[in-house]
Amino acid sequence: MGSKVNWTSLDYPGLLPEGWDRAALLSLTRLLSPVYLGEQSAMLGANRAITVFSAENEMSYVVYLATFMNDEARHLEALTRLYEGAGLEPASIRELPDMLRYHHRMRGSGNIISWVTGILVSDIFARHFYRLLSQVYEETPLGEMSTKVIVDEGRHQAFAVHYLTAALPHLDEDEHRFLWDVKEDLLAIVGRLGVALDEDARRLGIDGKELFEGFAEDVDRHCRKVGLTSRCRLCPANGASTPEWSELTGKGCACDLLAAESGDVAADGGTAGTPSPVREGNTASPAGPPSDLRTRGDAS
Ligand SMILES: [Fe+2]
Ligand SMILES: [Fe+2]
Repeated sequence: MGSKVNWTSLDYPGLLPEGWDRAALLSLTRLLSPVYLGEQSAMLGANRAITVFSAENEMSYVVYLATFMNDEARHLEALTRLYEGAGLEPASIRELPDMLRYHHRMRGSGNIISWVTGILVSDIFARHFYRLLSQVYEETPLGEMSTKVIVDEGRHQAFAVHYLTAALPHLDEDEHRFLWDVKEDLLAIVGRLGVALDEDARRLGIDGKELFEGFAEDVDRHCRKVGLTSRCRLCPANGASTPEWSELTGKGCACDLLAAESGDVAADGGTAGTPSPVREGNTASPAGPPSDLRTRGDAS
């Protein structure tokens, strides 16, 4: 629980790297902009989710989400102090409209499971991003604080995995496909943001392509773990397949690659003999289903 590992930004004074010129500070604050908005989205979404879980008398989730909100609040507060220290603002929505699309997707389209799927993707990205910061700015307050954030985001990720593993076997085809689309959409948006912020990342010595590739692979690994799988029979393991991923990695869509390699494409677009990822992925949850909240309340 977050209450056992309390810290605040006050433990890390002087978050800004020393000796940086204005251009480097601007790049750092621009690069942090989607993360900053993501912290706000997660915190506000948890607030709404608490209301829904309370109505269902799911008090263990309510207690957990209270600590989740506390975590996101301190991340938000720390980044706010960083912006104040730099005398700079996050990039605007007008400049990076994909941030708004990401926020909208994170709002969950009015259901808890969609929101938790967004939390899973968002927390995986946060872990990869802060891990990079902790490595690049090792032994600085920013690097040390990033290490603390990684631990928090890991807890959030574990919650999402637990919840989705229990809930997914109870979804019908359309609901399952909807969640897959949410995940794909979030990956695509992050990919576009990565392209838009590539120059800033380079200025700070950050390899945006490597960051995105690791993030996308981790998302797909976790999706397989919870049973969220593609309906595309050409890529049952479905690695990241968004156009943005293709652009960044030069690897092309996983579907295209498998089709080209196998040369065994069925008339309907499927590969003969490929087992159904639907049946493979939806293993029963040992924890049993949580209460069915997917149609209740807007968990944004
Ligand atoms: Fe966070
Ligand atoms: Fe988080």
